[in-house]
Amino acid sequence: MVHDPVLAEEVTEALLPPLEHGGVLVDATLGRAGHAHRLLDSSSAFELVAIDRDPDALEAAGADLAAHSSRVRLVRDDFKNLASVLERLGIAEVAGVLLDLGVSSPQLDEAHRGFSYRARGPLDMRMDPTGGATAYDVVNHYSSVDLAEVIRRYGEERFARRIAGAIERARPIDDTLTLAEVVKQAIPAATRRTGGHPAKRTFQAIRIEVNKELDALETVLPGAVEALRPGGRLAVLTYHSLEDRIVKLFIAAGARDCTCPPDFPICVCGARATLRLVTRKPVRPGEAELARNPRASSARLRVAAKMGTEAV
Ligand SMILES: C[S@@+](CC[C@H](N)C(=O)[O-])C[C@H]1O[C@@H](n2cnc3c(N)ncnc32)[C@H](O)[C@@H]1O
Repeated sequence: MVHDPVLAEEVTEALLPPLEHGGVLVDATLGRAGHAHRLLDSSSAFELVAIDRDPDALEAAGADLAAHSSRVRLVRDDFKNLASVLERLGIAEVAGVLLDLGVSSPQLDEAHRGFSYRARGPLDMRMDPTGGATAYDVVNHYSSVDLAEVIRRYGEERFARRIAGAIERARPIDDTLTLAEVVKQAIPAATRRTGGHPAKRTFQAIRIEVNKELDALETVLPGAVEALRPGGRLAVLTYHSLEDRIVKLFIAAGARDCTCPPDFPICVCGARATLRLVTRKPVRPGEAELARNPRASSARLRVAAKMGTEAV
């Protein structure tokens, strides 16, 4: 089944112009191939390198993309290794890179993956379940201070210290629903009744920590721009204010000519912009999309093109 990708039309429109001239598109977050499908159906001029670190995603998407198999190369890796993936494939430059960050709906929906606070599952939350620390390790082995910092920073949760203290007292915690209940009880009753599920922010924070999501993003952005040919485009969909801030600052810095401190009377660095903004403001889903897919509510799309002598 092909799922409904977030801002599908906007992503397709943003990436297609350079792809019409041939070359390679990297979908670095293949998921269930929703965006990949749309793009492959929209133009036959390019080839796709599709990366995901989740073996389940690659297996399912591989079957979904069978009709396009001669144009698609599937790679299981962390996108932070983009440069080495391209080198292995003998690809010197690409026409586009798509990053649709975070977890996919199937990852959230399958209880055994341990991402959901609504279904009982093991405390796992690894996108790549073949290695690395799990949510169990974070929940049961981090100091209360470190856990509070994770929950505060990545969850933007104001009751982070109370929650971390409650988790510490309830250890060992083995499963998602027990964790969700401990978090819920740690939040004052009046606050619990407002907003979404009381454990949402804590689960998000632990997931980001387990998968080192912000580190991977910080690493891939310069790698993606390096890999782009002049005129090639980078499109990034974020779902979290910290992710969006990283992308926004990265693109803004790339689109600036001079990087001298603002109090310098003249430019001494001679730096030239490497990026051109394709979207000046982040693109957000409209009401119709939000009615269809409430999970898109925090989505923001930012697109930039690599400067240089364009072949397009
Ligand atoms: C939001 S989903 C992508 C959905 C996809 N665009 C679609 O239309 O079906 C994000 C996917 O990126 C993968 N992912 C997240 N971080 C990754 C990373 N650092 N390296 C590789 N894959 C990653 C996840 O495993 C997940 O399958």
